Amino acid sequence: MIKFIFYIIGLGLLVSMIIGGIHLYRVSQRNAKEMAQYQDKKVDVKTLKGKTLIIFYSLSGHTKDIATRIQKMTGAELYEIKTIKKINQTPWFPLTLRKQLKNRIYPDIKDNFPDLKNYDTIFVGGPVWWYTVSTPMRSFLQKVDFSGKKVVPFSTQGSNYGTYFEDFANMAQNADIQKHASFNNMPEKYNQALNAKIAEWINEL
Ligand SMILES: Cc1cc2nc3c(=O)[nH]c(=O)nc-3n(C[C@H](O)[C@H](O)[C@H](O)COP(=O)(O)O)c2cc1C
Repeated sequence: MIKFIFYIIGLGLLVSMIIGGIHLYRVSQRNAKEMAQYQDKKVDVKTLKGKTLIIFYSLSGHTKDIATRIQKMTGAELYEIKTIKKINQTPWFPLTLRKQLKNRIYPDIKDNFPDLKNYDTIFVGGPVWWYTVSTPMRSFLQKVDFSGKKVVPFSTQGSNYGTYFEDFANMAQNADIQKHASFNNMPEKYNQALNAKIAEWINEL
């Protein structure tokens, strides 16, 4: 009997490893196809009208990387949303965060935000959590009013942003929402192509 249970568990693990492997392969193929459009392109970034701010939340650094690239291209100011209590990345933390999203439990965040009145265009970026907007970003969106501001949303994700942008637009109070961009986590070899993608997006704003 015990042998049979181990056999079933082993089989389950093997099947999930195969499914995971196929998923990763498909995502890498999709990323390669997307990035091929930007390979070897050199795009000069236009100057955005008025004053620009970039606000981002990032737990593991991917969104921070994109925000920093935008900052380098635009010369905009940068503001990072920070939770008051550190989010502990235990092995089960994704499930804890899913429960918090479901129950609308959002963390307290530091509230030393820049005065949005001083800006014309505000990029707002964050990670996709469970196909939607992360809880710290939700805390932020509950606290600010974007009246009279152009808001440019961006996300980073493994592969699927789900309803992130619809949810973001519904939560960003009084924002004049502009063209969004989403960025899958990419290997280093796409560095230049990624910059070209960001530059083209900025030029379309
Ligand atoms: C709790 C949690 C849920 C996630 N859900 C998704 C998802 O639904 N779709 C996806 O493509 N990636 C998902 N990811 C991956 C992140 O969106 C991705 O790694 C992102 O770039 C992380 O950004 P950061 O490094 O700025 O925190 C999830 C990550 C975490 C921690």
